[in-house]
Amino acid sequence: EQFHFREITGKTKIFGVTGFPLKVSASPHFFNTVFDIEKTDAVYIPFPADSIHSLIRLAEEIRISGVSVTVPYKESVLPFLFCKSDLVQSIGACNTIVSSADGWMGYNTDAQGFTDSLLEFSGRKDLRGKRVTIVGAGGVSRAVAAEVYRLKGKALILNRTAVRARDVALPYKFAWASLDNKGIEMMEKYADIIIQTTSVGMEPLPDADPIEFYHFTGKELVMDLIYKPAKTRCLVRAEASGCRILNGYDMLIRQARYQYTYFMGKEFPPSLISRVKLQE
Ligand code: ATR
Repeated sequence: EQFHFREITGKTKIFGVTGFPLKVSASPHFFNTVFDIEKTDAVYIPFPADSIHSLIRLAEEIRISGVSVTVPYKESVLPFLFCKSDLVQSIGACNTIVSSADGWMGYNTDAQGFTDSLLEFSGRKDLRGKRVTIVGAGGVSRAVAAEVYRLKGKALILNRTAVRARDVALPYKFAWASLDNKGIEMMEKYADIIIQTTSVGMEPLPDADPIEFYHFTGKELVMDLIYKPAKTRCLVRAEASGCRILNGYDMLIRQARYQYTYFMGKEFPPSLISRVKLQE
């Protein structure tokens, strides 16, 4: 691959990604490639920060235009926002902040990317009449549950720790259960779409399947939000049973394109959709 030197001046817009510990992130490659192709006078830099407060201070001092906010700051960034999108408001988590004259605007492109990915995968406009199992009850699960509710689906939240499943389910009157035999049995009534949101099976963790005792009928649509490995044990098993499957890459790249839109104030160039990938 060719190396391009891009001149950086006082006018160059600065964007970046923050988190702690900041994992080697695919987003700098994504944004810098787009800036390069589009000849945009902007750079995208990883900013590890040991508190969201110190990141915000730095961002204001050096006039950062926009930041992708990753784990563990998606909730703690909320008090620093001047304005929250409806999704940020309803989910209580923000992964994209954009500087404005009044202060920071906060968006949740994880939810937008997830929803687009799910709707295209299922070939639907909403989830009316659909029964969905959501595996996991962490931050990702909360965003997924909020979107399934907004799309008018009915869901079962399954989690190793049952009380956390209840906390996710309660605001939407969804069903909830622990990931034991009874929970797995309940899945049979919520098996149109299965969405795996836990970190179980994610590299470099050991290969594992959080719903290993569930028998796929082959009719379920199965989405695992993990993208490394490209096929988790759960997806391999689902596919072998005849299910249609989708991993988390599609959601990830869609959320990055939405971030581009908020950062630049214009649509992601359609001609770049097939050209610019996320890579580490
Ligand atoms: P995220 O923001 O990625 O959702 P999180 O808030 O740490 O991260 O949530 C991690 C999810 O993975 C939780 O649902 C967690 O289950 P618990 O609430 O019981 O901790 C789930 N998880 C992690 N390791 C797991 C394991 N070994 N078996 C089953 N579930 C696991």
